[in-house]
Amino acid sequence: MRLVLLGPPGSGKGTQATRLKDRLGVAHISTGDLLRAAVAAGTPLGKIAKATMDAGELVSDDLVLQLLEERLNQPDVANGYILDGYPRNLAQAEALDVLLAKLNQNIDHALALVVSEDHIVERLAQRAAEQRRSDDSEDVVRHRLRVYQEQTAPVVGYYQEKGLLTTIDGVGSLDEISQRLLDAIQGQTKT
Ligand code: AP5
Repeated sequence: MRLVLLGPPGSGKGTQATRLKDRLGVAHISTGDLLRAAVAAGTPLGKIAKATMDAGELVSDDLVLQLLEERLNQPDVANGYILDGYPRNLAQAEALDVLLAKLNQNIDHALALVVSEDHIVERLAQRAAEQRRSDDSEDVVRHRLRVYQEQTAPVVGYYQEKGLLTTIDGVGSLDEISQRLLDAIQGQTKT
């Protein structure tokens, strides 16, 4: 099974993908995590990406596609995967379709978590206090939300047009949200 998990920054994509991957027996592929690992390792790609990420902007499509393609060629994705943080704009959605056609794969479901901006700002302020992620300061979070609205929100429509989309209420306990996602994957709450 291959899933795309959509939603604004702080909507719970990473949290829920981590919970669902074991339930579904698939890999969790977060382009944010791949980029942060490249930054931490000081790779050439990581050096280019760091300032862009700290500013809350999107890293260039070519660099992220390169990372994703490498990841999709690793053996642990054979049973499927949850894509978290990709695609992030329409060009990436189209590039993903081209890549998947090359790999003879397709996306089974796209799930979009819906969470209000107030909840997001509160969640990421708490994470900033606990973990000090470099892009969680309030001004950068608000910028990331603008980038989401301008560039990523249209991707939701892209999957809706393909008949693959389910929107999920992303507010509630972690268990409640995981169950909503599982129900949607099993076809019980198509919207
Ligand atoms: P990325 O790492 O993808 O960050 P993001 O989309 O901004 O997402 P977050 O990790 O902030 O939020 P999330 O939705 O995963 O929520 P989480 O589960 O963590 O990207 C970072 C940067 O990398 C981008 O800005 C860009 O520069 C670059 N990048 C990445 N992908 C790219 C791409 N494809 N193209 C170009 N650039 C790219 O939860 C957030 C917090 O809320 C946590 O503290 C969690 O504990 C808490 N929480 C979760 N669920 C709940 C709940 N139900 N109730 C209360 N709290 C909750």
